[in-house]
Amino acid sequence: MNLTIKKNLVTKVLFGISAMALLSSCVNDQSEKKYNDTVDIPVNQEMIAELTSPPNVPTPVGKRMAKKLIVDLEIQEREGEMTSGVKYIYWTFGGTVPGSFIRTRVGDEVEFHLKNHPDNKLPHNIDLHAVNGPGGGAESSFVAPGHEKVFSFKVLNPGLYVYHCATAPVGMHIANGMYGLILVEPEGGLPPVDKEYYIMQGDFYTEGGYGERGVQPFDMQKAIDEKPDYVVFNGHVGAMTGDNAITAKVGEKVRLFVGNGGPNLVSSFHVIGEIFDKVYVEGGDLINDNVQTTLIPAGGAAIVEFRVDVPGTFILVDHSIFRAFNKGALAMLKVEGEENKAIYSGEIRDGIYLPEGSVIQSMPNGGDKTEKVEMKALSLEERMTFGKDKYMATCSACHQANGQGIEGAFPPLAKSDYLNADVNRAIDIVLHGKTGEITVNGKKYNSVMTAQALSDEEVTNVLTYVYNSWGNSKKEVTPEMVQAVRNR
Ligand code: CU
Repeated sequence: MNLTIKKNLVTKVLFGISAMALLSSCVNDQSEKKYNDTVDIPVNQEMIAELTSPPNVPTPVGKRMAKKLIVDLEIQEREGEMTSGVKYIYWTFGGTVPGSFIRTRVGDEVEFHLKNHPDNKLPHNIDLHAVNGPGGGAESSFVAPGHEKVFSFKVLNPGLYVYHCATAPVGMHIANGMYGLILVEPEGGLPPVDKEYYIMQGDFYTEGGYGERGVQPFDMQKAIDEKPDYVVFNGHVGAMTGDNAITAKVGEKVRLFVGNGGPNLVSSFHVIGEIFDKVYVEGGDLINDNVQTTLIPAGGAAIVEFRVDVPGTFILVDHSIFRAFNKGALAMLKVEGEENKAIYSGEIRDGIYLPEGSVIQSMPNGGDKTEKVEMKALSLEERMTFGKDKYMATCSACHQANGQGIEGAFPPLAKSDYLNADVNRAIDIVLHGKTGEITVNGKKYNSVMTAQALSDEEVTNVLTYVYNSWGNSKKEVTPEMVQAVRNR
């Protein structure tokens, strides 16, 4: 039946392109031969598919023969953390966003078991872009909570494909995290590499803005307007940063299976400080070499490969760059190994460059005229929690996560004599910025600190956090103190 569909499709396409194509029978013959071959690949044994959670992928197919592959996938609706202090009810294939990675080869006959956990509230289904058949399996897999649906398909086309839920309202099911990747390897498998990882971008729409605390419900209007609060890799902010970063060693060849679940945005996928040696464009057969940024459509994918030549932390972003630094689309690849000064020197010199007339820049507050209802800290503990979040978002890039600063550039906040000597001066610097030389713990610093567009509550929280961390004087700052400095 699949063969008939393919034949019809090939014929239609050829008619569509040009009647001349019909005269060139070789194109038609080759296509048909290919599908004949694939459809006729015999399947003898049965095996249970290995499914993995991101960022991991199952074992490569290598030289294994085509098999009857049993895929057991369970849908789970569960609460997760979008970012620190922000909860979201995710709908998932296999308990993670993106869903479990499925790895097949051409010629496999997949017997798909879609299970909807009895605790779930809604029916779901699955549309796999690797399927040749109505709805990509959606029509055969619509399943109510507490039920299981089974359908099967022959794997015909090699490539990297998205799967997603296609139950109405489709956009909402995808927006809540119902997508993942299925890889179809060619006969003999993809060429071996040293490291393989699974990354998928998605945009999320919440009633509260970025970072607004509590359980945040899905916002349909923002989704229709295509104005996401979060754009993230692997389901939430920081899924692949810090201790969760993916890793490699110098000299290793890395392959990333990158998908985009959308529902709305296309991704300009880029690794800062790396060049893709190879991109399987849109996850298909076409290979492009030496690529800086590759476009991944919503509901599409790409395979990128590169050798890592020098150690360091390489940042993966959507190069629509506000998404990376303001909405979460940022991941890390940590590479360990020997330096190679011939490829990259590292910093050779750091001098002060402050042209005459340098002025303190202000962080704009976005011209947001609407009054926001601000969550006020009710205890010192809450102040510390809110303060830490704000510190990590606003201050840690320069002063570092543990307040140790960067020698010669950004003064330390940890055990800082300058900070502990005068709280009003510290408040003033956060509010209005600071330029010129200062001495902190006996060392001179001469850089520019920008004025921060923070509310009195936010300044209070962040300074309380700083004063009560890293061996500082444990001073508690109050909104009244901030207001007094602001008004003087
Ligand atoms: Cu669904």
